[in-house]
Amino acid sequence: DFKDKKLLITAGPTREPLDPVRFITNYSSGKMGYALAEKAVQRGAKVTLISGPTNLTPPLGLSKYIAVDTAQEMFQAVMEHFTYADVIIKSAAVADFSPKDIEQNKIKKQDFNMRIELKKNPDILQELGKRKTKQILVGFAAETTEVLENAQNKLKRKNLDFIVMNNLTEEGAGFAVDSNIVKILHKDGRIEELSKMLKKDLANEILDRIYSYML
Ligand code: C5P
Repeated sequence: DFKDKKLLITAGPTREPLDPVRFITNYSSGKMGYALAEKAVQRGAKVTLISGPTNLTPPLGLSKYIAVDTAQEMFQAVMEHFTYADVIIKSAAVADFSPKDIEQNKIKKQDFNMRIELKKNPDILQELGKRKTKQILVGFAAETTEVLENAQNKLKRKNLDFIVMNNLTEEGAGFAVDSNIVKILHKDGRIEELSKMLKKDLANEILDRIYSYML
């Protein structure tokens, strides 16, 4: 049902360097994004996958695979590729901040008063929300507090068609595990509660929702 549709999917964490050997990152495994890419390929889509560092093997049959490290690199790759996409799914866990200065040499432990100054990274999805023309835009939200309220804000602020909301406090949901428990919040106010399922099955559920937006 996705034959010849162009999908741009982002996955995994980003990695924000501090010095030549250290970085700031998060627990994202990339499993949700890679499952989406795999299922979309199986359903006939032309998929570009832009991925932060993961231990996963990119699915067979991608049109393009772009490996990035930092949020800034992901921003650039997404901006270069989104205009041709029919659908953009931002399942990457992009770091919101990065170290202001990257030390050229390894920081020594004698610097025991060390402070890391951070700067804000670009919000890729929010920028897409501003620039989008006809594209269907899907985001993810992972929260631990005021989960529904935060996800609703992101849906509006980032101008999304729908947002997939994980509650990180539930067992079998969120980072690294193979399953997920989500609610899907649509721009028209509808909220769907999905039962716990494998990320591969959830990928198909998400693609079903996207398909209904393409009709
Ligand atoms: O970080 P946040 O909870 O706002 O993430 C929600 C959505 O925004 C996710 O889909 C994520 O991929 C996207 N995002 C982004 N660029 C950022 C931060 C988040 O595209 N700098």
